Amino acid sequence: MSVSVTPETSFWLRHEFAIRRLHSLLGIVPLGLYMVIHLLTNASLLNGPETFQRSVYLIHSPGKLLPLIEWGFIFAPLIFHAVLGVWIARTGRSNASQYHYANNQRYSWQRWTGFIALVYLFFHILHLHGWFHAELYLELARQLGFATFRPYNAASTLVAAMQGYVWPAFYLVGVMACVYHLANGLWTAGITWGLWISPQAQERASKLCLVLGIGLAIVGASAWWAAVSPGEEEIEQWVEVENRMYDVATEAGLVTPNPEKRLESAEEEVPDEVEVRITVTD
Ligand code: HEM
Ligand code: HEM
Repeated sequence: MSVSVTPETSFWLRHEFAIRRLHSLLGIVPLGLYMVIHLLTNASLLNGPETFQRSVYLIHSPGKLLPLIEWGFIFAPLIFHAVLGVWIARTGRSNASQYHYANNQRYSWQRWTGFIALVYLFFHILHLHGWFHAELYLELARQLGFATFRPYNAASTLVAAMQGYVWPAFYLVGVMACVYHLANGLWTAGITWGLWISPQAQERASKLCLVLGIGLAIVGASAWWAAVSPGEEEIEQWVEVENRMYDVATEAGLVTPNPEKRLESAEEEVPDEVEVRITVTD
């Protein structure tokens, strides 16, 4: 069977070495590192809304620089890795034989979980973050039920966004797919970078990645449970906790006031609170 060389395949052939390494590197740093920190942060909600809110304040402390950091260190590498991943998978240049996979199944799962991660992350980011922060766009997205997360009402808006069955089921599949993709991806990356070459070394590395994967699956499941298990009652109580934290944090100069990052109802409450305080001191 003859293989036709299109401009696309010839570009691939000329740069395969560099492309594979760039793809692999982005999967580990920043994406893999980000995912571990992200899941740990979300799992911290198990300790209560205060712990989670403090972490979110810290993440949002760069203020106006945050979109730049998000796009430069998360979204751009993610899009790049995803596009390259789809390209690698579509050009069908399996490295399975080259890397002596003990089980080809693992390699096809790496690709399948990549595709699941693509769908999951597109909707996950749209659902909570919204992708962009332009005012008009956000208004429209919110009307459609997206961009629901408000960083200054972190726990309550996260939990409110995860009510029902559809999103929780979608998240469970998405998170577990990402965990598999990272844990097995670390193992294949070790091969890409020549860290484990002999069958024995690959076997030992397999076990290490399995342990890492199980650990990360526990953290991911905790983050998922922390977001899906609370109900309406907690949401109401947590909004109050978050608003108290916001008042104190802005007064102390620890948080830059920003109504966009709060619930509209929380913003409306401010004049009432001022009024109450004045009444008390009078
Ligand atoms: C957004 C959608 C994503 C797609 C479509 C995707 C696709 C892929 C594909 C197809 C591979 C196998 C490449 C090969 O044949 O060697 C792969 C490898 C990998 N991916 Fe992803 N991926 C995605 C997201 C992620 C994320 C979020 C992470 C980190 C948490 C990640 C980390 C990795 C790692 C570490 C590897 C192994 C690289 C290597 O073998 O050298 N990927 N990805
Ligand atoms: C149950 C699990 C998860 C929960 C509760 C969760 C929660 C959140 C929340 C609340 C945001 C909005 C943050 C903000 O706007 O400040 C967010 C954004 C994001 N999440 Fe997740 N997430 C989960 C799993 C994942 C996984 C597995 C990945 C894979 C890498 C991921 C990747 C992202 C990315 C890239 C963003 C946008 C960047 C950012 O705002 O930090 N998430 N997530």
